[in-house]
Amino acid sequence: MNYILYPLKEINPSLLPRIAQIHMEDAGLLSRLGYPFVLRYFEMAVKDDRAFGFYAQENETGEIMGFSLASPEPSALTSNLTHDRGWFIRQILKVFFTRPLVFFQMVISSITIQGQMEDDPAAIECVYFTVDPKFRGQKLGRTLQNALMDEGRRRGYKKIFASIETWNEASLKATQANGFTIAKTFREGKYHRHRLESKL
Ligand SMILES: CC(C)(COP(=O)(O)OP(=O)(O)OC[C@H]1O[C@@H](n2cnc3c(N)ncnc32)[C@H](O)[C@@H]1OP(=O)(O)O)[C@@H](O)C(=O)NCCC(=O)NCCS
Repeated sequence: MNYILYPLKEINPSLLPRIAQIHMEDAGLLSRLGYPFVLRYFEMAVKDDRAFGFYAQENETGEIMGFSLASPEPSALTSNLTHDRGWFIRQILKVFFTRPLVFFQMVISSITIQGQMEDDPAAIECVYFTVDPKFRGQKLGRTLQNALMDEGRRRGYKKIFASIETWNEASLKATQANGFTIAKTFREGKYHRHRLESKL
């Protein structure tokens, strides 16, 4: 696999639907809210001053293979979704009436996430790292996460956190290979997650 990692902020906006499509492979809450939420989330994330990330692009074909995203304030990335109030209310009502369990999970998760950064201004969260299924198992996931760690260090952060569902062995393996250790295990609505951390 020959690829280059580029900063997510420099991505051509026409490629964001591909990022959103890859993200839909993640079994987490954002994907369950649906594609319009996912696309809007990444459209806003690339404009968020404090968030940073990377995407991998295959040299020969130009195909986007995966991406990673970090922020010192992950809850702000979710709040970005509400900036266009009309859009947000329409979308959320759709979720409420068609998938009420997902709606209630979203409420629980947004409350849980708020306390998670432990008011540590020197910490960042590995918010997402996802690889297209056809490129998995070749260490691209850990390379994308490692790029977040290097960039976090460069920006002066001292610690990185990640929350990973207890069943997600591929993510746990990649994250632990990058030096994270499990600090605690907690419940967030229907999700059981490990909270992992690493010094930068
Ligand atoms: C997590 C993810 C990014 C890993 O990407 P990747 O490029 O395959 O990662 P890596 O190759 O760097 O490492 C994955 C490790 O898990 C292992 N692995 C892969 N699938 C596995 C599975 N089903 N069960 C157990 N281990 C698995 C791989 O063998 C590898 O370990 P190794 O290097 O010791 O052999 C990818 O699986 C993914 O996109 N998953 C969906 C999104 C997601 O869950 N993201 C994380 C959210 S917290």
